[in-house]
Amino acid sequence: MTPETAPFLEGRGPYWPDACTTSAHACPTAYSGEDRIRMQRRWPGIPVVCRCHPHPAGVKAALLHPGTPLANECDRRLADELARIAPHARQAVIDSDAFTGRVIRHALADGITQFLDLGCGHIATSAAHAAVAGHPTATIVHVDHDPHVDNHNLADLTEDPILMTRPRTLIHGNAFAIGPLLTSLYRTGALDPSRQVCVLLVDILYYLEAANNARSVIRRLVKRLPPRSWVAVNHLTNRALSTVDSPSGQAALRRDTDRWCQAMARCVPPHPQASSRSEFARRIADLDLLPPMITTTSSWPEPDTTRLARAPYTLAAVGRVPEPTAAA
Ligand SMILES: C[S@@+](CC[C@H](N)C(=O)[O-])C[C@H]1O[C@@H](n2cnc3c(N)ncnc32)[C@H](O)[C@@H]1O
Repeated sequence: MTPETAPFLEGRGPYWPDACTTSAHACPTAYSGEDRIRMQRRWPGIPVVCRCHPHPAGVKAALLHPGTPLANECDRRLADELARIAPHARQAVIDSDAFTGRVIRHALADGITQFLDLGCGHIATSAAHAAVAGHPTATIVHVDHDPHVDNHNLADLTEDPILMTRPRTLIHGNAFAIGPLLTSLYRTGALDPSRQVCVLLVDILYYLEAANNARSVIRRLVKRLPPRSWVAVNHLTNRALSTVDSPSGQAALRRDTDRWCQAMARCVPPHPQASSRSEFARRIADLDLLPPMITTTSSWPEPDTTRLARAPYTLAAVGRVPEPTAAA
């Protein structure tokens, strides 16, 4: 495989001039929209085997640490393109990680010691992994559907001397298949259904194909998790929460978010899609939201303070699974 040497035009052309070396049936970028929707509904997950296209976890790793071995050449090229489109891209990744760390600290303070990280990405650079590893009795289940991510994670967990002695679980599977996932985790004892859990849906819900109902992901979690469990979720948006943004600032956010999503469509599927605040509110409507309700990833647990929203810009909320009502 030879890297493309011609100057790269945003939004056009592949990263690699050669045909994908993955066989046509296996390369997930060749799936039709209907294939992608169907596979996202299935358990155990999408057989992502292509290394000729960037992967979201590798791109995130490259944005944070350009020289990281977790990213390959096409992950790095996309990270460069994203940084050109949205100079805020690296800061947005740092903000997401800080959000994850704050959620875990607050959940631990609430007495929760079981964590479920859906779409965990690379554990070596995971904020969730780092925050939980520092706590003596906390456990975490990591779920990702990308075999390359899983192979790295397996090696990292096996070599980590602290984690060797601690309960930890790595699941290769579809994070959106909530029913089979929780059934399997309860059956194997990876999660204890009699104790609260904190579920992390950080930088993943907006990868759900639009035809697959995002509200049902949260609703199924609410049905199957112990009451008072926590669910933390963020979501890409192209509309600022703050009303002080000028019309030109709002137009720039919409334009840059569109360009960012188009560039991310170079990755193996699924691909990100922005939603409005009201759509995000609808998706998480089955949770009892903790104050300050819907805010931004960089602000939680404080109300949003963003004055100038820059892409990629994400809304965030953390909610509790309600106690069952007498009628339920
Ligand atoms: C942008 S990364 C975010 C990683 C991590 N949540 C974080 O905050 O650092 C998105 C991850 O979600 C994974 N992913 C996307 N759709 C998934 C699905 N249906 N099931 C499991 N993992 C999924 C991707 O493979 C990727 O590792």
